[in-house]
Amino acid sequence: MDLYIDTANLDEIRQASDMGVLDGVTTNPSLIAKEGVDYGKRLSEICELVPGPVSAEVIATESDKMISEGRERAKIAGNIVVKLPSTVDGLRACKALSDDGIKTNMTLCFQPLQALMVAKAGAFLVSPFIGRVDDISGDGTELIAQIRQIYDNYGLPTKILAASIRHPKHMVDCAMIGADVATVPFDVIKMFMKHPLTDVGLEKFLADYKKAFG
Ligand code: G3P
Repeated sequence: MDLYIDTANLDEIRQASDMGVLDGVTTNPSLIAKEGVDYGKRLSEICELVPGPVSAEVIATESDKMISEGRERAKIAGNIVVKLPSTVDGLRACKALSDDGIKTNMTLCFQPLQALMVAKAGAFLVSPFIGRVDDISGDGTELIAQIRQIYDNYGLPTKILAASIRHPKHMVDCAMIGADVATVPFDVIKMFMKHPLTDVGLEKFLADYKKAFG
């Protein structure tokens, strides 16, 4: 399972990368706006830090404009993946960019048929937002399971990128179901190696060592 970090903060990206487990980065307009930096410049800084896929979202909402914006974003670096919304316009842009050999990440996916359609259009990644489905009393992990089943039924190669992950249980569920990738905020990544029994056990080992060997 690949792990991406969901941030536009360079320090968080460096820290996650230092952990030795980072495969890529996802950004969106909200995350880059939060940093208060230039949109294109930040994308290029991230691409210099991380060799894996870096998702760069288009701002356009009409397919023709999405296509030209996507082509521009793809010129930033060889590891850019153009992020497009899972709309009909996004679908057209996905097909055109995929035909050009540009990788796409179809974002804002909330139901399994959006995932089926974007896979047919050649998407490299689909991003179901599981936390936001849970927010409206849906079942986000069930959405991942449905997409996994559909892709497996037809051998569709689009990778499932579980997004909007809010806590470690989401991550466990996605790994059990077989999501190909998860994109996770840094605060949640840090929780993945935490267990109180690890801390207590380590303290005891060190105390026993000190008592016996000084
Ligand atoms: O990658 C999508 C993600 O940024 C959305 O997360 O927590 O805003 O729903 P959230």
